[in-house]
Amino acid sequence: MLESVEVGAVIPAAGSGKRMNVSVNKIMLPLLGRSVLEHTLEVFLASDLIKILVLVVKTDEKDGVYHQIRGIDNKYGKKIVFVDGGAERQESVVNGLEYLRRWTGWKVRKRLVVIHDAARPLLTKELLRQSLMAGLDYGAVGIGVPLKDTIKQVDSEGIVVATPDRSKFWGIKTPQIFDLDLLLECYQKVNESGLLFTDDCGVVEYCGHPVKLIPGSYENLKITTPEDLILAEAILRRRENADRPGI
Ligand code: C5P
Repeated sequence: MLESVEVGAVIPAAGSGKRMNVSVNKIMLPLLGRSVLEHTLEVFLASDLIKILVLVVKTDEKDGVYHQIRGIDNKYGKKIVFVDGGAERQESVVNGLEYLRRWTGWKVRKRLVVIHDAARPLLTKELLRQSLMAGLDYGAVGIGVPLKDTIKQVDSEGIVVATPDRSKFWGIKTPQIFDLDLLLECYQKVNESGLLFTDDCGVVEYCGHPVKLIPGSYENLKITTPEDLILAEAILRRRENADRPGI
């Protein structure tokens, strides 16, 4: 079914290491012998479904990132395109989408875009495939997980004002998948409004288009604070051992 569409990927990687308490961009940090970014890219490079891979990086980090990932694209015979990031994630994503809009390599009319945070190195090939299938069906899809903790709404003093019903809330992750034309149109409206969103589904919701959430994996965590790296390492080790039964 996915043969009737072409898929481009946008990987926003132009963030920082502020909440990790490090002075470098957290995606450059080592994780089991490779950088966080290399783990993330590999899933997309290895997927036959992805036609073009747009990596959004800070202008002054381009050389460093290029140096770090040199060779990884050759291994899979797929080119990675570098695009400049912006001050906010939203701006970085828009820059990546603009590249896809102008790209002349599309061969079919139906185009999907998958957006995935560079800081999520634990996405599996299978979840990526499932997400793309759902994207084809619904045109706007997010990957989420039911929340484990109870949620409290608080005021500016930290006083609880409400305890919403947890069963109605999901934590939203990436990848998020969209019909490319739909997302471009929605981002244009949002940019005119001046609003800022922390995820791309929010942009489509703002434009009144339905967004489908499909269940993902708790393992698909975002490297944000130092303990996330410890968890990510443990998960990767377990996966490696599962690939080598008997050890
Ligand atoms: O900061 P946070 O972890 O929420 O960022 C999510 C993703 O967006 C990360 O992969 C980060 O590199 C990227 N990002 C970006 N441009 C920004 C801020 C974040 O590409 N200005």
